[in-house]
Amino acid sequence: MLEVEFAGIKLKNPVIAASATPTINLDGLRRAAEGGAGAIVTKSAVFPKKVVEGMEYVKGRPTGLKPSPRFMLLNKGETYDPRLTKEGSYFTLFRVGEPYLKPEELVEMIEKIKKSVNIPVIASIAGAVDDLEEWQRLAKPMQEAGADAVELNLHAIPIVKYTNPDIVRAVKEVVSIPVIAKLMYGWEDPTELGPKVEKAGADAITAVGTFGFPTMEIDVEAPRILTQPSYYGAGGPWYRPVSLAFVSRLAKTVKIPVLGVTGVVTWKDAVKYIMVGATAVQVCAAIYAKGYRVLGEIAMGIEEFMRRKGYQRIDDFRGSILKEIVPPWKLEWGPPMKATVEEASCDGCGDCVESCFYGAISLEENLASVDSDKCDGCGLCVWVCPSKAVAMEKQRV
Ligand SMILES: Cc1cc2nc3c(=O)[nH]c(=O)nc-3n(C[C@H](O)[C@H](O)[C@H](O)COP(=O)(O)O)c2cc1C
Repeated sequence: MLEVEFAGIKLKNPVIAASATPTINLDGLRRAAEGGAGAIVTKSAVFPKKVVEGMEYVKGRPTGLKPSPRFMLLNKGETYDPRLTKEGSYFTLFRVGEPYLKPEELVEMIEKIKKSVNIPVIASIAGAVDDLEEWQRLAKPMQEAGADAVELNLHAIPIVKYTNPDIVRAVKEVVSIPVIAKLMYGWEDPTELGPKVEKAGADAITAVGTFGFPTMEIDVEAPRILTQPSYYGAGGPWYRPVSLAFVSRLAKTVKIPVLGVTGVVTWKDAVKYIMVGATAVQVCAAIYAKGYRVLGEIAMGIEEFMRRKGYQRIDDFRGSILKEIVPPWKLEWGPPMKATVEEASCDGCGDCVESCFYGAISLEENLASVDSDKCDGCGLCVWVCPSKAVAMEKQRV
């Protein structure tokens, strides 16, 4: 029921462990497989570089430095409540730094893991943006080691602000296994970028990867910086709306399969990506927050959803929401909506009165009352009401 296929690779379910710390060593790869992953993408391998921007590279990137501690989860101001994550709230996974694998380390891992798991293993590689030959030197040994595909971490070294589709072309010249292009920048136009990597020969696209700006958070009481704004990037559901929109636009533009990544924590998140056209999803931050078992939980949740909805195959609902997406100039403008208050639910807190930009809501005998002549129909009061007493109603014209 959950089986999917992309670029000739068969997956028992569409939930893939993404490239990051959970897939940095052999034990992690095994645990991802045991946790229920349909496939695994390894941590990226890079050639160690010497000095870029005056900084000694330890294992290929400035993020090769290994600060301690280096991860932080936040979903509540400056703290983290795991219960909120269980309920599906947004959270952010901050990273200060991260060691990368050397090519020979990844080759050894792939040779070993291919003997002990029976799910596809995808080797992630990252070269310098302007050194196509380096990408080729990274890709070839991965194929020889038995990788089922290579994923190009196009967030290349040194840190760049654009994606170079020629990297895909160069890697395709030296390997026959599928080549997946992982797009890293949510601000590049997917409808322009997608066709470029497709034309360059990519067999699939992963989108959209790590948020590409340094991030920071501050504890004002101490005061102290909680994570230094030193290096890229942050994972987690906070960035999922950007990625969902990116994937939806990509899926409308390219013919090759798209693997959705960023913010997949629950089965619902995975279903969202599939509904905007993804063939499968990749999971990273959720493993940090909930452990490897989250992979199987997501897969089981998708299956339950499909049974409930009567879907036989993933393809039955893949891309199903794309037809609902309208360009901004076609958004519905009427008939106008107006706010209404269900008196039995209103507790007279006045939050909607405070929020209304149009002065349309007032408290009368401790109940919110809407002046529909003033109500602009913006809908904000529905969201700020703590007792869900406000709704929008279409006006008869
Ligand atoms: C600590 C950390 C390390 C990562 N390392 C890699 C990497 O080596 N290669 C890669 O392509 N993406 C890497 N990523 C990006 C993730 O694979 C993923 O695209 C991103 O975190 C968004 O997904 P998420 O919201 O599920 O975390 C890393 C992310 C984090 C947080």
